[in-house]
Parts: sequence; C-alpha cells; structure tokens
Amino acid sequence: MKILVIGGGGREHALVWKLAQSVKVEKIWCAPGNGGIAAGAECVAVDPGDVAAIAELTQKLQPDVTVVGPELPLVNGIADVFGARNWPIVAPSRRAAQLEGSKIFSKEFLERHGLPTAKRLGTYEVASEAYAALDNVSWPLIIKADGLCAGKGVLVAKNQAEAHDFIERALEKNELGPGGKRLLFEEALEGEELSFILLTDGHRYAPMVPTRDHKRAYDGNQGPNTGGMGAYSTDALLPPELRETILRMIVEPTLHGLEADGIRYQGFLYFGLMLTKSGPQVLEFNCRLGDPEAQAIVARMDFDLAEVLADVAAGQLDPAKLKWRPGASVCLVLASGGYPGKFEAGKLLEGLAAAERVPHVKVLHAGTARRPAGTGVSLVTSGGRVLGVTATGPSLDAALASAYQAAAEIHFAGMHYRKDIGAGAAAPAAKVTKA
Ligand code: AMP
Ligand code: GLY
Repeated sequence: MKILVIGGGGREHALVWKLAQSVKVEKIWCAPGNGGIAAGAECVAVDPGDVAAIAELTQKLQPDVTVVGPELPLVNGIADVFGARNWPIVAPSRRAAQLEGSKIFSKEFLERHGLPTAKRLGTYEVASEAYAALDNVSWPLIIKADGLCAGKGVLVAKNQAEAHDFIERALEKNELGPGGKRLLFEEALEGEELSFILLTDGHRYAPMVPTRDHKRAYDGNQGPNTGGMGAYSTDALLPPELRETILRMIVEPTLHGLEADGIRYQGFLYFGLMLTKSGPQVLEFNCRLGDPEAQAIVARMDFDLAEVLADVAAGQLDPAKLKWRPGASVCLVLASGGYPGKFEAGKLLEGLAAAERVPHVKVLHAGTARRPAGTGVSLVTSGGRVLGVTATGPSLDAALASAYQAAAEIHFAGMHYRKDIGAGAAAPAAKVTKA
C-alpha cells in the first residue's frame, strides 16, 4: 500500500510511525510533515488547508488511501473533492465537518437529536445584544466563538468583565477572525473531561481506547487553554457501566442523527465529554483524532492501522480487527517558551537519542524542522508544541515514569512541560455513570 497522510503535527507523526510498522505499507508521503516525520515518510511541502493543492498532489502520487489529520482540510471539503473522483480517503464530508467547524451547527445538532449537552443561553452577532445578555446569566459563563479559532475560541468567563472583554474582541475588534463573528453562550458544566473517539465507515463503528487531555498550559490546570499539553490512556478512564451509558446515550444517537440528517460520516469522530454528576454530556465534537490524544491512542494499538484505514475508506470497517494493548500510555508535550502565546522558533533540540533509549518510549515530533548543520542535519524547534514524549507501561504510573525519565534527557532553550500529566486519574469516573 501507498499512503498519503495530511498534516504535520504530533498526531500525524503518530500515524506515520504506526503505518510504517505495517508489512503491507511500501510508501508513505506526508504533507507537509515535520522534522521527525521525515524519518518515516517522504515529506511534501503542501499546505494541508489547500484542498486544490492536495488534490493535485494526490493525482500525481496515486496513493491507495489518504488519511487526514487536522480539521482545516475537512472543513474545506477535502472528502467531497476526493469523493467526486472516487479516491479513497479517511475523512468526513464538508457538511459533517461542520460539527467541529461551527459550534452553533453542532449545538443545533445536539438539541435536535436530544443528546445531553450544556444548555444554550443564546446566540449573538451584535455586540450590544451580547453585552445586555450578561445581566441575566450566572457565572462562570461559557462563551464560544462559532467557527475555527485555533483553540482560542472558548472562554470560561468568571465574571462580567472577562465576558465583556471577550465579546468586544470577537464582535467589535474582530480579533478572533471570521470564526469569532458569532458567539454561543452556554451554561458551565462541572466534572472531569474525557475524550471518546471512534472510527466509523458510515455503517459500523469502532471506539478507540479512552483518553484524557490536559488543556491548560500549567500544572494544576492553571494558565490559558492550549491545544493540549499531554494526554493519557488507561481503561480505568472508562468503567464498563460508563462506557455503556456513553454508547447508548451519546454515540448511537449521534450516529443515527447523522444518518437522519443525511450526513455520511467516514473517519474519526471525537466526542469531547464532561463527566458530570448527572451523567456524561457532550462539550464538543471534533471530526478527527485529537492531538495529543492520538499519540496516546496509537501507542496502544495492536492491529494493522493501514489495513483498518483502507477498510474504512472502502466502507468495510470490521470492528473486530481493532485490538488494544492492555496497560496505559502517556504523551507528554514539550512546548516552546511562551506557548500558547508568542514563542521563538529555531532552537536547537538536544538529547533525543538518549530519550529514545529509555525503554517503551517513542519521541513523536510536532513543531520540529531539519536544518543543515556542517556535514549533517540538526533538528530545531518550529512550533509551539515541539515534541510529544510518548510511553507505554503496564500501569499509568509506569508509563508516566518512563515518559518523565525520557523528557529529562531532552533540552531546548525555553522548553516547558507539565509535571502533573495523569494526576487525579485514580477512580476518575466510577461515580458518574448515571444517565
Ligand atoms: P471546546 O472547544 O468546546 O471543547 O471547549 C474547550 C474547553 O473549554 C473544553 O475542553 C472544556 O475544558 C471547556 N468547556 C467547553 N464547554 C464547556 C462547558 N459547557 N462547561 C465547562 N467547560 C467547558
Ligand atoms: N486535544 C484536543 C484536540 O485535539 O482538539
């Protein structure tokens, strides 16, 4: 098989790493890839959001299947373009991707199909109306920009001043871009979050192992939201009763709802859940694998990913093929100084070889680039999230110990990472299984 992977972050490195282990795979391209992906795939400098350019590339390369990592190509309709040409792809359609691309579309979907979700308090395009609504809400208030905002579109507003400032930036100063032209207000939910991701071919589905992401920048869930500072996976995140509830109350109604709305869905579907005292609720949908959740998930895969993805693209997913390693996995994100705000790139990476010598560890690259150095090449930072130190183990503690041991070997100027990934994992959801 020849496979084209679209994207260039840690999630795509995880996919390429796993695909390269398949005896069926003879060639992998990645557009655009990164400094680490270049070791396992041929990187092609094409912008993943530019669907026409990707179609041109695909015409030239003729891959047996294309797999899409990030949301932008999905929202831009890559699956529709491929579908029209009968090219095999693992990606939901443009319309399906509105579940992620528009928080209002997604809230309407949730409401229409009776799925458990935070109560909608209003939808606003006019700043004065949004300000006026603040007099009649309780705090904290959740404010969501409707469209894609690179992870900066949701505010958990503690008070009127914070809410006012966000509304002003979105609706008056246009600082969030086109994604911030409409705002959704909803009630705040309390609980632990869970990332529940499945793969579907539009007929059948197969859940991935459960994961939890750590979205805040600093230890103890302090600081701004990021794309994700680390993730872990253990089956203890999803006791059987909770799993049953999620499948019955959330997953199956969602898949039936898609069908009822005439939306064909082929690819990964991510349910961002809040495990509240009164049961799991949907915070968001993503139309893709999470990053860094994908790294933790891939580390536990015990099946031929290339074969399964080809099956999905052909509409022939066999859920029984998906087997998982017991135990736990962890992905620890090493970020640039300043991330998620401004950061400098071009910092030399050191210690990667020593880190990878730690047993059960794989260092997956996100924001790295290769730079000529003397007679060889060196690796430098090129993004906010730089590396995902990924480890497996028989227990979460064992996986964490390996990941932190490996991270201690790595250095680049300004590097920071959370020291509390996996904290609070003990008995996370056992109390919260009621529908
Ligand atoms: P979203 O992009 O919708 O997942 O929002 C990003 C993050 O904001 C989530 O992972 C939660 O931590 C938080 N969040 C979103 N909606 C709510 C809500 N209704 N109640 C509490 N926290 C929320
Ligand atoms: N880690 C959360 C996301 O990928 O959206």
